[in-house]
Amino acid sequence: MEGGVHPLPDTSAFRDCFALTWKNPYVLRLAFSAGIGGLLFGYDTGVISGALLYIRDDFKAVDRHTVLQESIVSMAVAGAIIGAAVGGWANDRHGRRSALLAADFLFFIGAVIMAASPGPATLIVGRVFVGLGVGMASMTSPLYISEASPAKIRGALVSTNNFLITFGQFLSYLINLAFTKVPGTWRWMLGVAGLPALLQFSLMIFLPESPRWLFRKGREEEAKAILRKIYPAEDVETEIQDLKDSIDKEIREEGTSEKINFRKLWQTKTVRRGLIAGVGLQVFQQFVGINTVMYYSPTIVQLAGFASNQTALLLSLVTAGLNAFGSILSIYFIDRTGRKKLLLISLFGVAVSLGLLAGIFHQTTTHSPMSKFGWLALIGLGLYIISFSPGMGTAPWIVNSEIYPLRFRGVCGGIAATANWISNLIVAQTFLSLTEAIGTDMTFLLFGIVSVVGFFFVIVFVPETKGLPIEEVEKMLELRPLQYKFWEKKKRPEGTMEEEEKLDKKNQGV
Ligand code: BGC
Repeated sequence: MEGGVHPLPDTSAFRDCFALTWKNPYVLRLAFSAGIGGLLFGYDTGVISGALLYIRDDFKAVDRHTVLQESIVSMAVAGAIIGAAVGGWANDRHGRRSALLAADFLFFIGAVIMAASPGPATLIVGRVFVGLGVGMASMTSPLYISEASPAKIRGALVSTNNFLITFGQFLSYLINLAFTKVPGTWRWMLGVAGLPALLQFSLMIFLPESPRWLFRKGREEEAKAILRKIYPAEDVETEIQDLKDSIDKEIREEGTSEKINFRKLWQTKTVRRGLIAGVGLQVFQQFVGINTVMYYSPTIVQLAGFASNQTALLLSLVTAGLNAFGSILSIYFIDRTGRKKLLLISLFGVAVSLGLLAGIFHQTTTHSPMSKFGWLALIGLGLYIISFSPGMGTAPWIVNSEIYPLRFRGVCGGIAATANWISNLIVAQTFLSLTEAIGTDMTFLLFGIVSVVGFFFVIVFVPETKGLPIEEVEKMLELRPLQYKFWEKKKRPEGTMEEEEKLDKKNQGV
């Protein structure tokens, strides 16, 4: 099944994306408005490392107590864990658009509380609010975009959300630099995040709810009207029919009950397979160590022998820029090369660069002073980011927005996003202690080993979803054999051939 259902020759995918969005800017408007959630996610996670330097100047208690510094940083991630879980439920219950509006509200309140904080306690409260918003937006924006995109360009449009995450991180470093000399420093750095939240709220108010969610809720006419605005005229009626068929089937099998039974969720083969792939990808995304690089890159740069604060900050701007550039590569390749191949290439590059970093840091501890190897370490870091970003950075979010059956899409995406944020917290909290306990070289080696395991995980458990109409993903999960013996050529299970042929014909409009 994999590789057999793509509607167009690979080379035209990107051109198609351009043509489709050019002809229909409405789709782009939906994607960018929802993508502001990604921008906020990136900004609010990126801004704190720089802002903390100035918070310490103003609040002596923070400067004296590491626990306060850690709380200011990690309470947002703790908030995101809860936000992602609640967001999953809210997405299925109240809709994707309502969840995004709620996230904006939280972002805005959090930004105001932080900017006006009289002391560390309120600052922490503000960070929790922002964290709740980040968690909710992290899973909702890709889901909304995915459900509002034509299949051929779905990956590219969801990748724009990741571009906005990385651009948000870049922007936060830039704004941190800009406000260093302005009175109020950190209050501005944290407060300006209220503006994109306000902007997104006002844009989303005028945009529709996800057509797929509306359909599932029985609001067929509204859903059809939106689908007609999104899809090219020649595809829309087939799309509506497919959606109707899949929902009818769902209701026949499951009834209309809204109750979520977790045991039943796990016992349903397609959902279980989706969850293994989706949660696994999110956990690997974090355990290959990306946020140690994003949150601690100034420290790593200093470990590599570049001593001054300013150089370290400037170099971390370069890392963030590279990351954003990598997400643009993803927009280009994801519907062309496919999610799975991109993930594998990405993990391969990540493993090699981590091996390189481990080697470089090992040399310096055993042989010569670090400064000799500083540039090599920087090259290793650059290679790591440019390998991570186009595949492992984007594909876990994309796959999670398209792999689950409609009725559980919010809840399952929420479970996977919660796993992502928990893993993020574990890695961020242990990184510095790990480098102290086993050394920087061994820490990078450990991440390297995780990426090798991740490589095989992707081969066995992750299906290719490129170009597949979102309604067909469930069918594919049902039929797809797991590739335990990945070195052997894939065997098709019975019935798959006919399914593939049918899909091929449909996709070619036959
Ligand atoms: C991850 C974030 C990370 C970012 C880095 C995202 O896909 O989920 O945790 O900070 O990529 O660019």
